[in-house]
Formats: sequence, C-alpha cells, structure tokens
Amino acid sequence: MYSEKVMDHFNNPRNVGEIENPSGVGTVGNAKCGDIMRMYMDIDDEGVIREVKFKTFGCGAAVATSSMATELVKGKTVEEALKVTNKAVMEALDGLPPIKVHCSLLAEEAIHAALWDYAQKHNITIEGLEKPVNDIGEKEEAPVEEY
Ligand code: FES
Repeated sequence: MYSEKVMDHFNNPRNVGEIENPSGVGTVGNAKCGDIMRMYMDIDDEGVIREVKFKTFGCGAAVATSSMATELVKGKTVEEALKVTNKAVMEALDGLPPIKVHCSLLAEEAIHAALWDYAQKHNITIEGLEKPVNDIGEKEEAPVEEY
C-alpha cells in the first residue's frame, strides 16, 4: 500500500524538531482529521533556507510527506521552495494512496505558512506566495465522500 520511500521516511523521519528563534514558523491543521503540522525555518540574508524542522500531530503519511518536503526545501531559496508542491513531494516518495493525498497538503501549507511568517517579519513580499490557511480542510479539492 505504501512505497518503500514512504515507509523509510515514516520510520526515520528527517528534520524532526524545533528551531530556536526561527526566521519563520508556521502552523496549519486539518479540522477534518484533527492533525496539526508546525514548520520552522532558518533563512539567511540571501533568502536561502539553511535549516528546516517540523513537528507534527499527524498521521504516518503526514510524517513521511513532511520529512520529504523538508529535505526538498533545504538549501533552496524561498522562491524555489514555493515550487515544492505536494505533488512534487508525492512524486519524490513514489506516490501515496489516494485517501492519503490530503495529508501531503498539510506539509505544503505548513511550508507556505513558515515562509509567510518570514516575509511578514522581514517586511518583504514573496512573489507567488498566498496567505496560508489555518485549516487545510478548507483547501481540499476533492470532497471527503470521494475518498
Ligand atoms: Fe490527517 Fe493524514 S489523516 S494528515
């Protein structure tokens, strides 16, 4: 049901933890499943993400997708990090069962929330970044009945 990569990132999640005094931190939840994700980022003066950590009250797929998402955004500029969509994360994990696709949105939105916080603190605008939602359930494309 789950790919080897998903199982690997679930069993050995990368970048779990917190960053003290982060450049940006964002938290999003999904009211439908009750899961929560918090993402911390350290971003240098050139706008490069030097460090990224996450903490989650999430399901296994949320853990695996967040782990992979942090690996994909680390070392990237904030603009490049914006291009790391949940689809890119799922591809890097060799796919997710359809019922678990929404879990990957939690990671994507938490990255956006951390970037949004960074932009607010530094009084800058990141092109293409929209204000993140607190509850990712609002953004889910497919209605729950279809899962
Ligand atoms: Fe809630 Fe996976 S079931 S994030």
